[in-house]
Amino acid sequence: MRIPVLRIPFDGDDRRFLQEGWEGVLDSGQLTLSKHTQEFEEAFREFSGTKYAVAVNSATAALEVILRALDVQDASVIVPTNTFLATALAAVHAGNRVIFADSDPATLALDPDDVARRITPDTRAVILVHIGGVITPRIAELKALCDERGLHLIEDCAHAHGCSIDGRMAGSLGVAGAFSFFPTKVLTTGEGGMVTTDDERVYNRVRMLRNQGKNPDLGNRISEVGHNFRMSELTALVGVQQMRAAPRLIEERRRAAAFYDAALGAVEGITPLPLPEGVESSYYKYVAYLDPDIDRAALKRTLRERYEVALTGEVYAELCHEEPLWERYTYCGRLRGERVACTRWPGCGCGEPAGDFPGARRISERHVCLPVYPGLGEDELAYVVESLSAALPASRVDAPASERSR
Ligand SMILES: Cc1ncc(COP(=O)(O)O)c(C=O)c1O
Repeated sequence: MRIPVLRIPFDGDDRRFLQEGWEGVLDSGQLTLSKHTQEFEEAFREFSGTKYAVAVNSATAALEVILRALDVQDASVIVPTNTFLATALAAVHAGNRVIFADSDPATLALDPDDVARRITPDTRAVILVHIGGVITPRIAELKALCDERGLHLIEDCAHAHGCSIDGRMAGSLGVAGAFSFFPTKVLTTGEGGMVTTDDERVYNRVRMLRNQGKNPDLGNRISEVGHNFRMSELTALVGVQQMRAAPRLIEERRRAAAFYDAALGAVEGITPLPLPEGVESSYYKYVAYLDPDIDRAALKRTLRERYEVALTGEVYAELCHEEPLWERYTYCGRLRGERVACTRWPGCGCGEPAGDFPGARRISERHVCLPVYPGLGEDELAYVVESLSAALPASRVDAPASERSR
């Protein structure tokens, strides 16, 4: 049996809906910022329980426009080092310096104690990433810290469509949330993003910023340093379809996760990450920690070569502060070296090494993500568990060479 890394589910009804819809879009002649964008925004606003939602063309764009809408510029922004680099790059694109912080292996999320230690006088915002769909129960602590220090708490919800904590949805927990609709995500439009917020001023500014700064109150004269972050109507139509399918897509991921929860207790060498109390995940990722003597690369190789089981990418195997770009660029995105010395702020420290991240390091080195995408049958899930049971002992560092896959 072959388990691919991902299947993107568009069934017959979905395809018919899209094909008919596309005809309508083409007939209308309205290819951007029109009725499907509004319909997608309205559906997403309801889905995330916020007052407003604004469609953009990626989560990276969503994060950048949130920071710009909040006037977070020439400042420092704290982000986890255990995230996709886009979280950090969005802060740089908005004109800021990045400060990386550590994460807690129990929740995969920013550790509020480490955040508190890393705040500097120019810090204006903290971006919390709900890695794999897990919302940290320490969000209340993080929020209190941000309120006390006058910082904006922004949610990177690229992994968290439909996730909640104590009944409160991801995207409604900070000043604004940024969602991604990249192909691997829980909901996808190919490319795309969404900003959610309850703040009317942020909403109005984000709408202008995504559309080259055009201000409807000034007859569409340009009053912001905006960008073209618009979503096309063709993409928005896929978004409308995804919102209709969302309950089913999320339910299928939860069903796959429940299967693993029940089955993996009997498998030695791997421990699923338990969800914190009150958290409902949509399982962008099903995260499990490996015993310290399991060689992750060998395990993945054995699963792939002997059993044709492809594990999905980790979240994350590489830490952001160790990406090679920082050899060339400072943490505010300027070229390093003699040619351009960073003089942005006296003593801003944007070229300094990022420090120590033991929690993030443990996450990055010790976890795997099991396949949970919609459409996986029980026989396939059982096969993943069986394959793991066979491959784990062979992947222990002291397993005999004959058992280990090369
Ligand atoms: C945590 C996180 N933030 C931001 C992004 C950026 O999303 P997009 O590709 O929609 O810009 C991603 C995408 O993978 C992500 O995983």
